[in-house]
Amino acid sequence: MRFSKKVQECSLSPIRKFYPYAEEAKRQGKRIYHLNIGQPDVETPRAFFDAVQNFAQPVLAYAPSPGLPVLIEAVIQYYEQLGIHYEPGDVTVTTGGSEALSIALNCILDDGDEIIVPEPFYPNYNTFARIAGAHIRPVETRPEEGYRFAIREKIEAAINANTRAILFSNPGNPTGTVLDESELRLLADIAKEHDLFLIGDEVYREFVYGGEQLTSIGQYGDIAERAIIIDSVSKRFSACGARIGMLITRNKELQQHAMKICQARLSVATLDQIASAALYSAGSGYFDTVRAEYRQRRDTIYQKLSVIPGVICSEPKGAFYVMAKLPIDDAEKFQTWMLQEFSDGNETIMLAPGAGFYATPGRGRDEVRLAYVLKQSDLERAMDLLALGIHEYRNLNR
Ligand SMILES: Cc1ncc(COP(=O)(O)O)c(C=O)c1O
Repeated sequence: MRFSKKVQECSLSPIRKFYPYAEEAKRQGKRIYHLNIGQPDVETPRAFFDAVQNFAQPVLAYAPSPGLPVLIEAVIQYYEQLGIHYEPGDVTVTTGGSEALSIALNCILDDGDEIIVPEPFYPNYNTFARIAGAHIRPVETRPEEGYRFAIREKIEAAINANTRAILFSNPGNPTGTVLDESELRLLADIAKEHDLFLIGDEVYREFVYGGEQLTSIGQYGDIAERAIIIDSVSKRFSACGARIGMLITRNKELQQHAMKICQARLSVATLDQIASAALYSAGSGYFDTVRAEYRQRRDTIYQKLSVIPGVICSEPKGAFYVMAKLPIDDAEKFQTWMLQEFSDGNETIMLAPGAGFYATPGRGRDEVRLAYVLKQSDLERAMDLLALGIHEYRNLNR
């Protein structure tokens, strides 16, 4: 049988592709600490489950294609608190930020188009861009420079006649980089000057650890037509399984095109929308507690990584990931070995090998992304296992 070139050019997610090895290791009784996936262990606010329990309608009906008004209103109120005003027609509810990305890219990209993305980047961007017929044009960044990419010359050097958009996550997955106000403004200016869409993936907005103000590209009125925000309850409320996200833009034409795809997929899960609307009543105290917890985890992982001989990394400022260069030949080989051969007290760890976070061939082979989503004691143990694993692996490969 024949398969599309588009899908053949995609790869399995580096975050999930080692699961078969992990399943086998678990069958053999090994405990695995998961640092590979951004699945927080912080409890989802009770309001979500209470809303599910209180659901009293006799039929679980389709929701409207744009999303349930109760959730759209909750999202609008949330943005009002950030000083950003949206109308109901500016917010489309999607199945996670993932579907918002996929719909947005399918609305703006044709075969042969390009989007500019700073690398390393969230690997699924590549899949969504390829399926829409386009390619990622990466902008290289360096750990020594805190992975900063909002530099006019760097971005303009990547723009050509096929460029349609700049896509970035802020705070950054996998780098933890947080853009400051002047950097965001620069991206908005470049998008304006070169007639590009600016897609801000802001699913980690609350996760900033230096006291920064929460930002959004939605704050710039002069790019209202070209700003597309990808948002989600997954990380914000530790509700990844709800699968609720949003595509937010004031560009009415884009929303109309998006609605064609939304109507074709009918609707987003009704009960999850009702329960997600309830999450937005959590209040700022909730975010303060969660942020303090993650800041502590960030400090732990960074401190532990910094003392492993040969490891190079820079302190992440946001999200809940850190990218690190390990003193090994190949992170995929190392990960397979950690799952198949290594064990200390019948325990091991899972990481996300770095190559899949890059579009440039050859980059990221000796890097890994670690997600600090485990509670303090588990995180400490996981980092001790990493240090031991690196030591043993290097001895074997001498
Ligand atoms: C940067 C980024 N964007 C989007 C998503 C998609 O999240 P979801 O579909 O759960 O909203 C993720 C998930 O890890 C992510 O890290």
